[in-house]
Amino acid sequence: METLPTTFSAEAYFETQPPPPTVEQDVQSVRNFLRQQQENRRKVVLVTSGGTTVPLELNVVRFLDNFSAGTRGATSAEYFLKAGYAVIFMHRQFSLQPFSRHYSHSTNPFLDLLEINEPPEGSTAAPSISVIPSKRDHLLEVLKTYKSVQKAGTMLTLNFVSVNDYLWLLRAVSQELSVLGKEAMYYLAAAVSDFFLPREKMSIHKIQSGKGSLHIEMDEVPKILKPMVAEWTRKGFVVSFKLETDDKLLIPKAQDALEKYGHTLVIANALHRRKFEVAFVYRTHYTDSSASQFAESWVRIDLEKNPEKEIEEDIVEELVKRHKQWVEL
Ligand code: PMT
Repeated sequence: METLPTTFSAEAYFETQPPPPTVEQDVQSVRNFLRQQQENRRKVVLVTSGGTTVPLELNVVRFLDNFSAGTRGATSAEYFLKAGYAVIFMHRQFSLQPFSRHYSHSTNPFLDLLEINEPPEGSTAAPSISVIPSKRDHLLEVLKTYKSVQKAGTMLTLNFVSVNDYLWLLRAVSQELSVLGKEAMYYLAAAVSDFFLPREKMSIHKIQSGKGSLHIEMDEVPKILKPMVAEWTRKGFVVSFKLETDDKLLIPKAQDALEKYGHTLVIANALHRRKFEVAFVYRTHYTDSSASQFAESWVRIDLEKNPEKEIEEDIVEELVKRHKQWVEL
């Protein structure tokens, strides 16, 4: 059997790894969605959100996961919708989603919002359910916006689980979205696995224990941003995220990414400060992807003064401004 390289080019990856069964159907729904948005002359943003998995077996029992609850992506999607964008929300199955994120089962369980109203004694009426008064205003506001987005048809939701699903879907959606040229934004907040097990190296059945320690050699996932910028998207406004735990690496790694992939902007965030501080890192000459002069600007919020504030509101506001300038260039 031919041995496979341990660092795949994007091309080799797509030639050797099979597409997920749902990709064709997803592409069709993206096409229909884009047609509708073009008729209404809306800008469209693709938001990726949540972590990808790397299955260890074909009949998967075990997998490696990437850290991400999906908060950044789901919250940002809401602010993009508010700013008049149509949103393709491509997220990890069961990670947070716009609107329902406010009632996540762990932080704000839905059942705790409800109360049972018993009928008066002797009545044959059934008990009814209502929302507890202290939660009504907030729920009504979220529900109204959710329903109006549904009615306007401005959000399309797609999902992925494994890094393979993600890569195939990202390529397909980016290629479709590229018809919008500069009017499209790509907001890549998903936390993508750096290593994976090619199908050829995976065990068919559950890996059995009892033989001592487990050694797995993984291959490197191709850096998908490069072909995405150079081939799949035409002049789109591409924003990637950089997550680091070591502060010293944050800005240099973001600059490295811009240099390597030639995209528009990196939003750099440190793991423990990501909810109140991020840096925008970009080239001083926006349109020149070979320029190597970089600038950075920080977006910060004061959660002590304003605990309800979400940093994504300011991130999106700044991006909308920059995207407008980009379109007008
Ligand atoms: O969801 P939350 O809990 O709110 O957390 C949000 C977040 C911290 C996950 C998010 O803000 C974030 O930083 N996301 C990117 C994390 C990440 O995976 O960084 P990375 O260095 O592996 O990737 C950098 C960029 O390259 C990403 O935009 C990714 O989409 C892209 N990438 C990564 C790997 C790969 N093979 N190809 C890629 O294109």
